Amino acid sequence: MEILNINQLTKHYGKLTAVNKLNVSIEKGSIYGILGPNGSGKTTTLGMILNVIRPSAGTFTWFANTNQNVNRQKIGAIIETPIFYPYLSGQKNLEIFCRIKRIDNTDIERVLKIVDLYDRRKDTFKTYSLGMKQRLAIAGALLGEPEVLILDEPTNGLDPQGIAEIRNLIIAIAKQGLTIILASHLLDEVQKVCSHVLILKEGKMLISGKVDNILLEPNIFEIKVDEREKLHKLINNTPEITLVQEHNNLFIVNYKNQSNGQELNRFLFENGLVANHLQKQEKSLESYFLDIIEHA
Ligand SMILES: Nc1ncnc2c1ncn2[C@@H]1O[C@H](COP(=O)(O)OP(=O)(O)O)[C@@H](O)[C@H]1O
Ligand SMILES: [Mg+2]
Repeated sequence: MEILNINQLTKHYGKLTAVNKLNVSIEKGSIYGILGPNGSGKTTTLGMILNVIRPSAGTFTWFANTNQNVNRQKIGAIIETPIFYPYLSGQKNLEIFCRIKRIDNTDIERVLKIVDLYDRRKDTFKTYSLGMKQRLAIAGALLGEPEVLILDEPTNGLDPQGIAEIRNLIIAIAKQGLTIILASHLLDEVQKVCSHVLILKEGKMLISGKVDNILLEPNIFEIKVDEREKLHKLINNTPEITLVQEHNNLFIVNYKNQSNGQELNRFLFENGLVANHLQKQEKSLESYFLDIIEHA
């Protein structure tokens, strides 16, 4: 079941295009990572799908339905650090969340248990570690039993133990059937936590798909052909081939089926394209991504 469909979503800030014609489909139960270096448009994308930032163009649809009011209740999100009262307990802070969300307090016990803070619920917020504070924020987002949880850089600023706690928590929450969308600039985080990934660079999607296909077993090829448009069409119509990048007529593609250049060459030929250049890339997508980050 499709939870979210994003179609040509775009955001301009003056001359800057923060998000550029983004297309995504997110299935129920996935942990969908939006991966990109700082400034690549992750937070802007989350802001738009949460109706906090107005898109310049494009559309998105939650739960295949357009009733925004109903939809909003099914989505729990942390895109900015929530405000907690340092001298109030975790429990009391969540009671305030409940009032804001207009739900009663009966759900607090459930969410505190999920994030493993139930035993510490009476301690004041200021005595919590950073990891516990972030877990309380997640508890707040889970109030009201949303179907989707949206997290922006969920482990930023945490120590290694806090990072591990949050990552395990995200995986545990997804096991309960929630769909999770998380933005991160950390390749490692997406590899460890996410089932699906979309890589953003300067607002544009470089590649998307299952983490296992894309980040772990990449088959990256360089292709040059005379008939650019024809190759574009073929890539668009072939699920096994995704375009990573195109510059100066050089296409960088991920060919999921085969690690063998001959196979790809034959496939192109069978579809009426003659490659002037076809070469398997030495670099994995991982090192590609690291390059992108370094040059950002
Ligand atoms: N309110 C704004 N006004 C102008 N530019 C913005 C605004 N918000 C974000 N940007 C710009 O949009 C781009 C994407 O930002 P952002 O979505 O925050 O990226 P990320 O979350 O991936 O770090 C950046 O170049 C950023 O400077
Ligand atoms: Mg951001």
